[in-house]
Amino acid sequence: MPLSADTSTTSAPVAPLPVTPAGVRPAPACTLVIFGAHGDLTKRLLMPALYNLAGNRLLDGNFRIIGVDRVDSTTGQWRDGLAAMMQSFTTDPNAEFHPAHIDAAQWGWLAERLEYVRADFTDVDAIRALGEKLPGNAIFYLAIPSRFFAPVVETLGRAGVVAQKDGAFRRVVIEKPFGSDLASAQELNRRVLAVLDESQVFRIDHFLGKETVQNILAMRFGNLIFEPLWRNEYVDHIEITAAETIGVEQRGAFYEPTGALRDMVPNHLFQLFAMVAMEPPNTFDAESVRNAKEQLFEAVTPIDPRDAVRGQYAAGTVEGRPMVGYRESPGVSPHSNTETYVALKLHVENWRWAGVPFYLRTGKGLGGRRTEVVVQFRKPPMLMFRNTETADLPPNRIILNIQPAQGLTVELGAKKPGPEMDLTDVQARFRYEDVFAASPNVGYETLLYDCLIGDETLFQRADNIEAAWKAVDPVLQAWAQDRAGPEPYAAGTTGPKGADDLLQRDGRAWYPLDGA
Ligand code: BG6
Repeated sequence: MPLSADTSTTSAPVAPLPVTPAGVRPAPACTLVIFGAHGDLTKRLLMPALYNLAGNRLLDGNFRIIGVDRVDSTTGQWRDGLAAMMQSFTTDPNAEFHPAHIDAAQWGWLAERLEYVRADFTDVDAIRALGEKLPGNAIFYLAIPSRFFAPVVETLGRAGVVAQKDGAFRRVVIEKPFGSDLASAQELNRRVLAVLDESQVFRIDHFLGKETVQNILAMRFGNLIFEPLWRNEYVDHIEITAAETIGVEQRGAFYEPTGALRDMVPNHLFQLFAMVAMEPPNTFDAESVRNAKEQLFEAVTPIDPRDAVRGQYAAGTVEGRPMVGYRESPGVSPHSNTETYVALKLHVENWRWAGVPFYLRTGKGLGGRRTEVVVQFRKPPMLMFRNTETADLPPNRIILNIQPAQGLTVELGAKKPGPEMDLTDVQARFRYEDVFAASPNVGYETLLYDCLIGDETLFQRADNIEAAWKAVDPVLQAWAQDRAGPEPYAAGTTGPKGADDLLQRDGRAWYPLDGA
């Protein structure tokens, strides 16, 4: 992570490496063992990210990758399949990684370090044999369904491959979902931490790999102009939105027992919330940042189910194309009560945020795709504009645009040209693409690199995960008992009416999904 480049607490006992001309240290030599070598995550995201890291000379000459899966395959077949996949990205504008071409030397450097091992993830003997191929530092990346996380970590423990010896590190990467409620998250943490030390566990939330999410900290703490206003004296409320146009598509089997709340809120939306609302950490080292997050999460009042709204999309039209309703999607029950939309109100009981509601919403099959944070300030007093054409003063807003727009928008009142004193709202914008060259990064580059160098700043600690589940647990429990189910909304709209009512009750309205 760039912000922590100079301050990282590297637990890896490696000798300092030379610094590249760009000022970044190449990662230490390591073997990356990917469980789930044939899976989607490996193909779509991990390989492109490793290719990009290789291109930036951030991997050591002795870096190696061992792909593990149950599929019968050879190193040659795995490598060829990945090469074909990388090529296919160049012609697929919808792929997360869409470069103009694949550089043969760069891919070749990576390809010759690939090895495939066929093994059952929980076969202790097979994993012990695999361990013999690992001379020093190793990272085990669990790119596998979450039901395997605890059994695989236990297998790694039994096989003796995660013991850190002779100054070499052994780390394990897990990606969400970390449990499906507070109790299961606690149980997962307990089983994982019975085998590994917390410093060996790297829990990925891919939102933290997004430049625009990391930039929230840079904006807040790298500039003087935001922080003095960033508190209840000046802020009226904060909205956090992750609106998606896509429906559940082919993921019905995963989504049915999950739903929008579990899929997006205690993980992705809470990470955005943490970036926006946490106190300034003393430094950017991992523990300071994760302590600041913990302090914030502990100040969140467990959400009152009356402050939560759920919806489910019915058939509609999204961006001019018809979309079938959620209940008609493959793998979904025609009577499903799974929510595809959730809106919540959070209260934070601390000095900075007491009295400032945080409204969170996320949904699929909506009319617009936008991930953003809107900080809405209190209205200025009318005073000096009395007796002018100005009927009302619009509130200032700072909008942190995460995606697809990337940057920051400030909404201000300005005088309309003309003889009258009449104010209207205008926008001042910073857009990444206007300032920085586009890079075909997939968002996993920083996360993989940080794991290699042992910087846990962008990874979630066990207590952070549990605190987020604790906040949403009353809602999950209430919904499990409530037979009424989610409120339907037509695909292509802004979501269920209940979500508008949630803000209206407080005399507020959501920032429009089609604005900015
Ligand atoms: C994933 C969820 O974690 O995040 C998906 O499982 C969701 O349902 C996705 O679509 C959103 O991520 P992004 O990066 O596309 O905003």
